[in-house]
Amino acid sequence: MADEIKQAPPAKMKVTIDNVTIEVDPGTTILQAARMVGGDVAPPAMCFYTPLKGSGGKCRTCLVEVSKGSEKDPRPMPKLVASCRTGVMDGMEVKNITSKKVLDARKGVVEFLLINHPLDCPVCDQAGECHLQDLSYDHGKEGSRYEFKKRTFKKHDLGKYIQLHMTRCILCYRCVYTADQVTGKRLHGVLDRGDHSEIATYIEKSLDNDFIGNVIDVCPVGALTDKTFRFKNRVWFTKPVDAHRDCATCCGKVTLWERGNEVFRVTARLDQWGEIQSYDGKPGWICNECRFEKKDVKDWVIEGPMKVARHSVIGVNKYQDLIVPQETIAEVMGRAPKLLMDIHSISDVNSPLIDLSKIEGPATSRVFDNKLLEEKK
Ligand code: SF4
Ligand code: FES
Repeated sequence: MADEIKQAPPAKMKVTIDNVTIEVDPGTTILQAARMVGGDVAPPAMCFYTPLKGSGGKCRTCLVEVSKGSEKDPRPMPKLVASCRTGVMDGMEVKNITSKKVLDARKGVVEFLLINHPLDCPVCDQAGECHLQDLSYDHGKEGSRYEFKKRTFKKHDLGKYIQLHMTRCILCYRCVYTADQVTGKRLHGVLDRGDHSEIATYIEKSLDNDFIGNVIDVCPVGALTDKTFRFKNRVWFTKPVDAHRDCATCCGKVTLWERGNEVFRVTARLDQWGEIQSYDGKPGWICNECRFEKKDVKDWVIEGPMKVARHSVIGVNKYQDLIVPQETIAEVMGRAPKLLMDIHSISDVNSPLIDLSKIEGPATSRVFDNKLLEEKK
């Protein structure tokens, strides 16, 4: 009988964030509500990741000011709160970019995150799609007050696909939750405590689960990188296209990062918050085979250019409705050009004999030296 009594759906709650009022379901966090408003109102988030249970509360980049607790108890909250871990109350008023306190605190958080993080963006594979790079451009200070040496670490081998650069890690725990919740068998974690904490494997285990490659996508910085892509290209030179294949292990829906006809990298599809997209309510994690082994365009059914949702350097020059300007040489010269040079035949740098995506290791000058070209012939 009790089962038959239908419960009324819980009433919506009103929340005002940066002077924009919206209604949300009970249980919504301030961060989720701010993302519903969108744009700059949504605080940055370096450790929260919607599909990962328990994530959030580590990095403090999402701090906001609660200037009114709720309709029933309008007192402001005494300290800034982590919006990814604080639930909305009815009548709550929140300030993000309209609060000087928040903007000052965010500057401090960025300074802390950069205490040990090296400024090696020019050689880091994550450059151009790094959330910490964006954060420091938006909120960073021009200098650091830290006078001590940055941390250095013993190198840990994570297996044949993933390279760990521990000096870049900000200990957000996303990769640990991913290994726990997606692979079901975690062989790495945060070892030691305090300033000595580091991501590492226990007794040098390799990470070889079918889904372990997803830790690369969730890492907000360049601490976990793809060994098959490292140092081969810069993301802003590549063209991201959505593609799929029939895969027995995963959803097979990916983004291919191409240059010319070469596939340099395969990643899961990410949304505007840098989080993995869901299909039918399930996160679209991809398997190692799709990510690391399928680097041929023929392996994929191309759907079209990826919609670059996130404000990013990757979006530059990726026009969808490209209007190709008319060729004007003939018009200006009064005749058609007599000589068209084939740059491939005279340049070693652009040699068609080299597939950059298929060479072992980074692309260095050695790859293009005559000896190697001779060997290939
Ligand atoms: S390696 Fe990357 S994902 Fe893992 S804790 Fe460090 S920053 Fe986070
Ligand atoms: S995103 Fe909220 S503390 Fe990291």
